[in-house]
Amino acid sequence: MTTFFNTTEESIALESKHSAHNYHPIPVVLNRGEGIYVWDIHGKRYFDFLSAYSAVNQGHCHPKIIQSLIDQAKKITLTSRAFYNDVFGIYAECITKLFQYDKVLPMNTGVEGGETAIKLCRKWAYTVKGIPENKAKIIFCQNNFWGRTLAAISSSTDPSSKNHFGPYMPGYEIIPYNDLDALENSLKDPHIAGFMVEPIQGEAGVIVPKDGYLKKAFELCKERNVLFIADEVQTGLARTGKLLACDYEGVHPDILILGKALSGGTLPVSAVLSNNEIMLTLKPGQHGSTFGGNPLACAVARTALQVIVEENLAENSFKMGSIFREKMTAICQKTDLIESVRGKGLLNAIVINDSTDSETAWNLCLALKDNGVLAKQTHGNIIRFAPPLVIREDELNEAIQIIEDTILRF
Ligand SMILES: Cc1ncc(COP(=O)(O)O)c(C=O)c1O
Repeated sequence: MTTFFNTTEESIALESKHSAHNYHPIPVVLNRGEGIYVWDIHGKRYFDFLSAYSAVNQGHCHPKIIQSLIDQAKKITLTSRAFYNDVFGIYAECITKLFQYDKVLPMNTGVEGGETAIKLCRKWAYTVKGIPENKAKIIFCQNNFWGRTLAAISSSTDPSSKNHFGPYMPGYEIIPYNDLDALENSLKDPHIAGFMVEPIQGEAGVIVPKDGYLKKAFELCKERNVLFIADEVQTGLARTGKLLACDYEGVHPDILILGKALSGGTLPVSAVLSNNEIMLTLKPGQHGSTFGGNPLACAVARTALQVIVEENLAENSFKMGSIFREKMTAICQKTDLIESVRGKGLLNAIVINDSTDSETAWNLCLALKDNGVLAKQTHGNIIRFAPPLVIREDELNEAIQIIEDTILRF
């Protein structure tokens, strides 16, 4: 693979000099990806155990997805929604049938999906539920993460994304996650329009709520005529071992937000799905995006969904995830370094036995990198392990062996 740089340091220095310092990456410079592997500029191969924060569930550069990208790119890439294009309708049919909704609203990034869901919920609240104008509130959970726009950080409880960025958007109520009593109590307010929740809190450190939480939360929302909004940007699209994490509890959200792996990691594609009663409250001009629904994104997203279904990625994620947790739990018993292992499907994390402001998780990620596995810590003492869902058992075992050796030698 040709590269512009002789050394990793040279590449990092150039980026650091000319770009904002709003990330703190693991010091590895990648220039190729295929399936579960990525390669750095020196040709060293790594297991990718982050999958671009679950955006490459189908594996890097999946041939079918890349072929769709190339084929569509040669025809037409962007029309804007000022005109119709001949791909959006086909994609809209595909995604609404797969997830069983009347309508889809196409956006680009996950955070735009969240914004769209909130706008939609508010519009429904004023025009259908009858909440007085400007009084609608949406409930969020502590430690939620859905991006860093002003609307998103306004619902955040993380000081690093929130502090010094105020004033914040009003109309939110924050309750503890995994706490049905708190939800029931907050729902008594007649101005509550929606409850927006991650079925598993990804960025918070793969926090899995107790069984039955989502189902009961959904029922409580129904009792109060409040919309249940599922943010499945990270948990969706087979990541947790089902097509949606909500499927574990048979919950069909009123509004569903998808993103990340919807394009198999090729370009930003997000989607908000709901039924007519909610979606048709939006009229022309009230919401949109220049790139949302562009033919390139639609062609790619349709193929990305087909790959998930055809290659049984949810089943594989379920099976490989069980093996991963079983083996990691066994490793956990051999060392004091790891406190616990948790997750569902192939969205997993280990909790390091150290304080949240320690460097241990970061240093362990550096050691893992040196040994050929890429992962990234979250919140100082948690490391997420989320490989592409196409991983086979022998490959998983090989990666687990590297993780075990690294941990035991650390
Ligand atoms: C649950 C969840 N929602 C929304 C987002 C935002 O997605 P994006 O970074 O594509 O805007 C993320 C990103 O990590 C996420 O984990």
